[in-house]
Order: sequence, then C-alpha cells, then structure tokens
Amino acid sequence: MRIDILTLFPEMFEGVFSKSIIKRAVDAKKVEIHFHNFRNYSTDSHHKVDDTPYGGGPGMVLACQPIFDCVRSLRTENSKIILLTPDGVVYRQKIAYDLAKESHLIFICGHYEGFDERIRSICDLEISIGDYILTGGEIASMVLVDSIVRLLPGVIDEESHLQDSFNQSLLDYPVYTTPRIYEGMEVPSVLLSGDHQKIEEYRYQERVKRTQDRRPDLLSNK
Ligand code: ADE
Repeated sequence: MRIDILTLFPEMFEGVFSKSIIKRAVDAKKVEIHFHNFRNYSTDSHHKVDDTPYGGGPGMVLACQPIFDCVRSLRTENSKIILLTPDGVVYRQKIAYDLAKESHLIFICGHYEGFDERIRSICDLEISIGDYILTGGEIASMVLVDSIVRLLPGVIDEESHLQDSFNQSLLDYPVYTTPRIYEGMEVPSVLLSGDHQKIEEYRYQERVKRTQDRRPDLLSNK
C-alpha cells in the first residue's frame, strides 16, 4: 500500500510514524508513507495557502489551488482520496477494514478555520474521527493510518485482529497475566482450567456482557 499525506505540518508525523508497528511495517515494505506540504504547490508569490472567506466571517479558509495541484500530481486511477473533516462520516473499524484493501490512499488534512467547499469535489470519502473539533486533520489522519496499517497482511499476527474489539460488533474479552493473585484480585479460575472450549465460551460471554454494559449501541447496529 502507498499512503500520501497532504499537510502543512509534516513534522507532526515524525515521532508517531517512526516508532513501533508503523515503523516496522514501513521497514518491511508493507506500506510506503509520503508527506507533501501543499504550501510548496502554491502558485502565489508568497506561498499563501489560504484567504479570507467570501461573504465575510472569522478566520482564513484553505484555498483550492495548492491542494488541487498537489492531488493532481499524486493521483492515479487506483487512488482513494480522503478528506479529514469533522463533518465527514464517523470512522469505525469497518471503514478501516475497507480501506486496508486499497492500494493507494491520499489523505488531505484541513487546517485553520476551514477549507474551500470545492475541495470536497476531488475527494472520494470524507471522514471524521469523532464528534469533537481538532485543530486540524493531522491527528485524525494518524489515527486512520495506524488503524489501517495494522490490518495489512503480515504486519501483525492475523489472529490478533480476529480477536479485536469491534469484530462481530463486540468489545474484546478481559485478559490477565501473572501473578495469579494481585493485591487480592484473582484471575478467573476458568482461565487456569486448561479446558479450551470452556475458555472460549467464557470469553464469548464476557464480550457480550461487556458490550451490553458499555456499548449497547454496537448490538443494535449489527
Ligand atoms: N479536523 C478537525 N476535527 C476533526 C475530526 N473530528 N475528525 C477529522 N478531522 C478533523
């Protein structure tokens, strides 16, 4: 998979993508990630990327030209262009699975108070990571990249994501490690029984119980 990220702040990604599983996936050539500061595509003599809104109002609005030109230089017929915006569809694990099947993703990170409405016309998908406002799309795109890259074949143990929370619309079951008793809290005895069928049943029941308690909406969304 190839991922291109259009951002005014490529430095924001340095720490996040140079560690752990994403770094391993890049080193193993499971994914290539490229950053593009669309300011470099501005044809304005001062490399301006924004301007005041027509009709008045507060703040500055990202203009079309730098983003259109940057996308044009990257897109192929296989590209999926994704705009990060609080008014997009709310991101869920199902979308991560769908996007993990694509070969080329282009993320556009909005910033400042908004972006010219016409930028939506070059996007295939608009995604929000939740009902709150971030200062820009950078952190949202990191969330998407992290959740997609871990699903690429060979990046993590396939069995781990079969067990993920949200698979089958259920949260994950509780897990424990040594010691068996810690500050008076005991590991459930079924996990020490060695009976794999019983353990599986227990875990499934725990997933259902936890989902009913914490996220009943997942059960009705099925
Ligand atoms: N940009 C600002 N807020 C956002 C959000 N919640 N999701 C995606 N992009 C955003």
